[in-house]
Amino acid sequence: MNEQDGLTGDGFTEHAPAQGWGPALIMEKARKVYPMADSEVVALDDADIVVEADEMVALVGPSGSGKTTLCSIAGGILSPTSGRVVVGGVDISTFGPKQLTRVRRELVGFVFQSVNLVPFLTARENLLVVDELGRRTGAPARRRADQLLEELGLADRAKNLPGQLSGGQRQRVAIGRALMNDPELVLFDEPTSALDTKLGMAVMELIRDEMKSRGIAAIVVTHDERITQFCDRSVHMEDGRVL
Ligand SMILES: Nc1ncnc2c1ncn2[C@@H]1O[C@H](COP(=O)(O)OP(=O)(O)OP(=O)(O)O)[C@@H](O)[C@H]1O
Ligand SMILES: [Mg+2]
Repeated sequence: MNEQDGLTGDGFTEHAPAQGWGPALIMEKARKVYPMADSEVVALDDADIVVEADEMVALVGPSGSGKTTLCSIAGGILSPTSGRVVVGGVDISTFGPKQLTRVRRELVGFVFQSVNLVPFLTARENLLVVDELGRRTGAPARRRADQLLEELGLADRAKNLPGQLSGGQRQRVAIGRALMNDPELVLFDEPTSALDTKLGMAVMELIRDEMKSRGIAAIVVTHDERITQFCDRSVHMEDGRVL
């Protein structure tokens, strides 16, 4: 794979799991500026954050404070305008689109508020679709998907389409999908805001158990103070700054 994408020597080949030797995420003076017609928006204003390899951090702040921007940069969806970003020991600060695709496939998992399951694929196929692109394919991928569905209590719903699942079940499929590639860091952007309180708390408990039992780091974006109790600590944001 390295040879074909011309990515050899980009830091991936030497990449070792973050667990045990370094933080899952280091951001130093990460900045994101959007140029607008006659001004500019500073979405992320020299943000510093470190998330340890097995840590679960709640990211809290008002709407527009830069939480999604921070997660998008940590997950290789967006490039920072300036600053340093290291994910699982790989410095992605200056990565181009091709290298960032690999970051998304191999180093991070995402769970968004809107869940984003593919509507015409079953629960099991929604897990497998990640792996078509990722590290594991074929029979090992199917075994992994079945194992995750089992652990998430979805074995008997593997063949259901997203439209045939409850909100909490869809959220669990999304969590399973984010875990398919054994990421170093999972980014949860308001994972419970579409759920009622009881289900939201149950999903958070599940997220916490899954992350802790696997020793995976996580950032959980939330407006809800009740969610923060499931995390190791809270980090607050305001106007693009990490406080
Ligand atoms: N593509 C873009 N172009 C211009 N400005 C943007 C863009 N994306 C985000 N912004 C601005 O950057 C700031 C941070 O946005 P961001 O989505 O990170 O906030 P947030 O903390 O996730 O908010 P919310 O809680 O509402 O989801 C906001 O002021 C937003 O308007
Ligand atoms: Mg947001």
